[in-house]
Amino acid sequence: MTKAFVAGATGLTGREVVRALRARGVDVHAHVRPDSRALDEWRQRFGAMGAEVDTTPWDEAAMTKRLTSLAPTHVFALLGTTQKRGRAAKSGGKDETYETVDYGLSALLLRAATACGSHPRFVYLSSMGVNASTKNPYLAVRHRLETELRQSGLPWFAARPSFIVGDRDEARPMEKVGSVVGDGLLALAGALGAKKLRESYRSQTGEELAASLVKLALDERPDRVVTSDELRALIH
Ligand SMILES: NC(=O)c1ccc[n+]([C@@H]2O[C@H](COP(=O)([O-])OP(=O)(O)OC[C@H]3O[C@@H](n4cnc5c(N)ncnc54)[C@H](OP(=O)(O)O)[C@@H]3O)[C@@H](O)[C@H]2O)c1
Repeated sequence: MTKAFVAGATGLTGREVVRALRARGVDVHAHVRPDSRALDEWRQRFGAMGAEVDTTPWDEAAMTKRLTSLAPTHVFALLGTTQKRGRAAKSGGKDETYETVDYGLSALLLRAATACGSHPRFVYLSSMGVNASTKNPYLAVRHRLETELRQSGLPWFAARPSFIVGDRDEARPMEKVGSVVGDGLLALAGALGAKKLRESYRSQTGEELAASLVKLALDERPDRVVTSDELRALIH
């Protein structure tokens, strides 16, 4: 039986991955951080989709124990914080940075998935632009995680989407501006003949991205990095 553990389930992509997995009849365990202020709401939303809510704390021993008893066939790591939350950490707020969340929690999950014994396929939501020489902290932590994923011994794939758009619970003006300006420039480039460029970089909704991720996850394809245009082509 296909059984998926989805970390980052409350995110724009995560919630759609849960929905798409349920639509394919998968037994889904949607992880919500135990201290989430919206825990009751997520219990209702995921419950209505037929998914179980999992509130295992972000502690390596606890996560390993949970995955060992669950024995998932697939683990999704769809986590990420924002630069704004990272700045709050510097002024005494919660320690939520690219290092502690995007890398730290994803790496903890990867170690727990490796140790749990069910040899799950690990699906990692990375980003367009990741490369070994990047100096960008957001991309650098993703490169580190992709490297550890390749070395993990688990079946895996890493998706590198462009901008992800949709109705967010929190305002992210720069993401919105980036996707609108980017898509506008790309439409112009497309009109001028640069169709490949346009297809590579234009934004995707969380729902579209989730459809590609679930398709890739459930088909037994070789371990690999999947680029933004490949992600889009999978569902068109
Ligand atoms: N947005 C884009 O344009 C874009 C483009 C390329 C790649 N990506 C990457 O793709 C991934 C998913 O993107 P998205 O837009 O779907 O993400 P999102 O909507 O921001 O969701 C992020 C998820 O991570 C969880 N999370 C954040 N901080 C956490 C913490 N301290 N402890 C536990 N959980 C935490 C959130 O939980 P809560 O709801 O509890 O906060 C949420 O479930 C991220 O890694 C992102 O960087 C994004």
